[in-house]
Amino acid sequence: MFKHAIVRNVARKFQDGITSCNLGKPDYNKAVIQHSDYIKALKKCGLRIFQLNADEKFPDSTFVEDTTIVNKDVAIITNLGVTSRKGEELEIKKVLERFYDNIEYIKNPGTLEGGDILKVENQYYIGLSKRTNKEGAKQLTEILEKYDYSCSTIQLVNFLHLKTGVAYIGDNNLIVSGELIDNPIFKKCNIIRVDYDEGYAANCIRVNKYVLIAKDFKRLKNSISNLGYKILEIDMSEFRKMDGGLSCLSIRF
Ligand code: GLY
Repeated sequence: MFKHAIVRNVARKFQDGITSCNLGKPDYNKAVIQHSDYIKALKKCGLRIFQLNADEKFPDSTFVEDTTIVNKDVAIITNLGVTSRKGEELEIKKVLERFYDNIEYIKNPGTLEGGDILKVENQYYIGLSKRTNKEGAKQLTEILEKYDYSCSTIQLVNFLHLKTGVAYIGDNNLIVSGELIDNPIFKKCNIIRVDYDEGYAANCIRVNKYVLIAKDFKRLKNSISNLGYKILEIDMSEFRKMDGGLSCLSIRF
């Protein structure tokens, strides 16, 4: 069970962040409303929220997940793989220090972002991407193995992050899309395939009794619902424009 979530308010300069999408500029006011709805959903899941102020130095800083890997044993501060985001982790670390005695770090020349890290029970999958390099993956593996977790790497081709295309929702159920469909590394899981045109929705999150899913992706919603999960839908239109998904917007622990 998760008890806490860290989120960070949307910066006014959000639209100046990094994106590969051609969906237009995000609307700040709409993004603020969607962020607020997201927080309400996390509260409904039973989480206590640590809501950080927006940081105008970092347009992408609402995507807090990239700054850390947390589990019941350890918090690991990442080394973000793009210059414009380096430093986002400092405020997050201050919150995590209240909960973790043992904080570890990914260090240069290793780079690693939380969006590339998928946890399936005691197994971690690390996406090798433009943001997470082999050295970052090696350092994370060494840290996690000390706490008896196993790690494997997956080379990404097009996805920004590993969790762009895969989500674990518990009970051995894995939601998989795009280039990750049919990857044999996931063969022991019960695979829920996401249709190409619903690929964005693959980034969903299980939070206690609920699965949060992006709004308006009916087929994936039905597939998850048919497995017996309770669903909360969130309108993510403005975050999608900046390559962000549901997992990116919080650190859950
Ligand atoms: N816009 C989120 C990222 O590129 O990291």
